[in-house]
Parts: sequence; C-alpha cells; structure tokens
Amino acid sequence: MNRIPVVAGNWKMNKTVAEARELVSTIISKLREIPNVEKVLCPPFIAIPALYELLENSGIGLGAQNLYWEEKGAFTGEISPGMVKEFCKYVIIGHSERRTYFGETDESVNRKVSAAIKIGLTPIVCVGETLDQYESGLTSEVVRRQIKVGLAGIDPVDPASARRIIVAYEPVWAIGTGKASSGENANHVHGQVIRPALSDLFGDDIAQSIRIQYGGSVTASNASEFFAQPEIDGALVGGASLKPDEFVAITKAAAKSSR
Ligand code: 13P
Repeated sequence: MNRIPVVAGNWKMNKTVAEARELVSTIISKLREIPNVEKVLCPPFIAIPALYELLENSGIGLGAQNLYWEEKGAFTGEISPGMVKEFCKYVIIGHSERRTYFGETDESVNRKVSAAIKIGLTPIVCVGETLDQYESGLTSEVVRRQIKVGLAGIDPVDPASARRIIVAYEPVWAIGTGKASSGENANHVHGQVIRPALSDLFGDDIAQSIRIQYGGSVTASNASEFFAQPEIDGALVGGASLKPDEFVAITKAAAKSSR
C-alpha cells in the first residue's frame, strides 16, 4: 500500500503571532520544495489566521490543536469545527496533554473526531500508553481501546471519510522526554495493534490506507529510523518542530522514505 507520509509540527502552547510569522517565514521556502510528503503546521489557535495568509498556495497545510464538537453557542472559550474549517484542513484530537491536563476521554475524543469528519476536516487522532501502562505490559490493550472507542461510529459506508483519518501513536513516556521509542517498537504497535484495530472498525482495505504517524521525541537524528519502518507513515513532531533546521531535516527524511 502506497501511503504518502505526513509530517506535522505540533507547536503546542508556543509562539506569539509575531513569533509564529517569523518561524514560518524561515521555513516556508525550504519546506515547500520537499516532494512526496504531506506537510502540516499546527500553531496555537490565535496564530492560525495570520499563518493562513502566509501559507496560501505553499502546499503546506494548517492544523488546529483541538476543537469543540458543538457548532456554535454558549461554550465560552471553545472553538467550533466550522471556525477551524475556515482556515485549516487538519485538527489534532485527543493529544495526551489534553487527556492529562484537560480531562479528555476516549468518549470526548470520539465526539470531536465525528464533528471533525462531518465538517470535512482531517483529524489527527492521538493514542498512546503512559509509562505505567507500558511497564505493566498494557500497551496493546490501552491503544486498542483508544482506537475502538475514539473512532467508533465513524461511518464505514462512507469510505472517503474514514480514509481521511490520520492516527498518531504517541507513547506518553516518549513525549518531551528525549526518550523516543525505538523504530521497531513503534512499528510493532502500528502494525500489530493499531492497524488491526482499524481493520476491525473499517475493514482491511480502508485500514491499509490510513496513515499512522509516530510521535514522541522525534528529532533530525532519529527520524530516519522511524521512517525506514514499513508501518510508520510520518511523524507528529513537538519540540523539534519549533527549530527550523530540525523540522526541515525531519521532513526531508520522510521524503527519502516515501514509498
Ligand atoms: P515532542 O516531539 O516534543 O516529544 O512532542 C511530541 C508530541 O507530543 C507531538 O504531538
């Protein structure tokens, strides 16, 4: 199955609008010339309109880091799917930091994924086990449940919408710790846990077409190790996406592995 790798930068809560413009100006020309990779930047909400203008016709996509599932109304502080869709093609859903600090659950992830799909966004759905769960041998069980519940009810009779989903496997113990998973371990979770769970939900054909990114301490030095693995279809990059040269090098490594 020929899956185009997708490299996304999750800037998290970093960069003012002015800083965001500066970072994009530094990388845009280098990124846009890298072929055969889908490139996505996910800045904080407030920088999205400014970057939308800068990135127009660049071939680099914009993503939000979250959304709320309701269309509109009295939900102070929230951003609706329609508001995201005005500027973005992608939206990260269920990042472990949202699960840990903001009480998100597999059920709320499911409502957000459904809302994203309904409005035509590409959700980047994050799954991954904590250190405790990893050490207790619970990785498969936890990740399988996150997929099963998080993606439940996404209509498989509309294959186009299910195919659009991107899954990001981000073991919590690897995020921001400098202790990345090995390529082999991530490949195993992608191929033996996530893809079979996707197949149970959507059938094998659709499951084979869904991209599964790895995330967690990806850097320019370890990126190729991940992209060399057959089940790893790109990366969701945190810290290194804030460093222009690192992010460009990671994206180039993905292009080299493009199958
Ligand atoms: P780091 O790359 O900083 O480990 O973060 C990964 C991540 O959480 C991306 O969503």
